Amino acid sequence: MERTLTLGDTSIGKKVLVALTGIVLFGFVLVHMLGNLQVFLGPEALNAYAASLRKLGPLLWVARLVLLISVLVHIVLSLDLVRQAAVARPVGYRLKQSAATTYAARTMKWSGPLLACFIVYHLAHFTWPGMAMGAYAHQPHDVYANFINGFRVPWVTAIYLVAQVLLGLHLYHGSWSLFQTLGLNHPRYNGLRQTLPRLIAITIVAGNVAMPLAVLAGVIS
Ligand code: HEM
Repeated sequence: MERTLTLGDTSIGKKVLVALTGIVLFGFVLVHMLGNLQVFLGPEALNAYAASLRKLGPLLWVARLVLLISVLVHIVLSLDLVRQAAVARPVGYRLKQSAATTYAARTMKWSGPLLACFIVYHLAHFTWPGMAMGAYAHQPHDVYANFINGFRVPWVTAIYLVAQVLLGLHLYHGSWSLFQTLGLNHPRYNGLRQTLPRLIAITIVAGNVAMPLAVLAGVIS
């Protein structure tokens, strides 16, 4: 008996799912950054925010599950699309395209896996009990103290800074191709298609590098 095709069966369907899960993940990164920026308001504000998240109880676990599924779908389908493209053109182009996007597109192939490694490192650094990598005394209910003590270690901060640049490149190209996939490539949107990916990448990188750098520079302590 023939099975009905689902969204994940076709190339375009896979691209749409990569785009939609990308939107979910970007939403998380933005909200996470805005929440974390409360570190500049002091320990009470950041710790109260962290406590309010924990109070969500089962809802927090639903959000974590949605995130986990989105990350997995995003990774598996992206790898599948890369594999399909390699099978379709095993020899490669004799004359490489020099469009502005190709540099960012090539970076997707390695920024993606490196970001996955960063996420595992980041969870081990800040959340998994007993795995406070970067040698600081982890305190389960004092996120502010973890923040300050965690980023006082220069090599840890260096890892975070490099990861944020990778994240910026990934978001830049990701949002650019999202517009293509969702069909927003009408000339009327040309300006937006150029500006929005840059704005997204710069905002996230600036917000995320400001925090570890502020700790290392002693601006917050
Ligand atoms: C400089 C940038 C970042 C800082 C300062 C930061 C800070 C933190 C802190 C302090 C926690 C622990 C919160 C708690 O114990 O309640 C945390 C958790 C987490 N972070 Fe980040 N983060 C950053 C970037 C990122 C990025 C780029 C991602 C993903 C792409 C990410 C994903 C997560 C996840 C999944 C958790 C666990 C959330 C949970 O327990 O539900 N973070 N982060």
